[in-house]
Amino acid sequence: MNNRVTVWDPLVRLFHWLLVAAFAVAWLSAEEWQHVHELAGYTVMGLIVFRLLWGLVGSRYARFRQFVRPPATTIAYLKDLRRGRERRHLGHNPAGAAMIIALLGGLALLTTSGWLSTLELGRAADWLEEIHELMANILLTLVVLHVGGVLLASYRHRENLIQAMVNGKKRMPEQDDID
Ligand code: HEM
Ligand code: HEM
Repeated sequence: MNNRVTVWDPLVRLFHWLLVAAFAVAWLSAEEWQHVHELAGYTVMGLIVFRLLWGLVGSRYARFRQFVRPPATTIAYLKDLRRGRERRHLGHNPAGAAMIIALLGGLALLTTSGWLSTLELGRAADWLEEIHELMANILLTLVVLHVGGVLLASYRHRENLIQAMVNGKKRMPEQDDID
């Protein structure tokens, strides 16, 4: 029986896994291999620009309008989660969506501070390097929480969300789900 529906379009999936790879390379090359570090960092920057545009004109579940929710909705979702009665979302759930905004915004600041710290800005350079290092550590923390959230939602709804980010497919919405 075919009860699966495509949620993540090919560009969202390609974006995600390229982002994971470029982020990992940027981390591993930091302070080791500056040329590779900057190349990986600019790749992340390009991917973020793409995703911001795709969030406006992309397929249904890629659009910010589909998944960005007001804080009250996110808080209500987290309260439901604590009581073990949060509803399944076919697209990003409100907590996942808040994390995506934090990741995209944080990566924009991280890559911009990295770029600016290459510009020989005199005394500002030290300060930019501090910001860059701080943002790198914040992003690593967010990524750990992000993967934790993915695993939690996968367990709660008996659905492999990592596989869904590979083949794009999720289980059809059921009665109580939010499409
Ligand atoms: C191996 C580690 C990772 C795994 C397994 C993973 C898995 C996932 C999954 C399953 C989703 C979809 C969530 C949902 O169903 O709502 C997702 C979305 C996302 N992840 Fe990750 N992720 C990983 C690492 C990262 C890293 C390192 C970053 C960024 C630095 C990142 C950024 C994002 C973003 C921006 C989205 C939103 C996708 C979109 O709509 O464009 N992820 N991730
Ligand atoms: C996802 C993207 C990026 C990550 C995860 C990242 C991470 C890091 C980390 C962990 C360090 C070492 C900080 C320290 O301990 O001093 C560093 C240093 C550095 N990064 Fe990045 N970076 C990224 C993007 C960029 C970009 C786009 C550029 C510029 C083209 C850049 C330029 C630099 C430079 C010049 C340094 C050495 C000086 C400093 O500490 O600021 N980075 N980066």
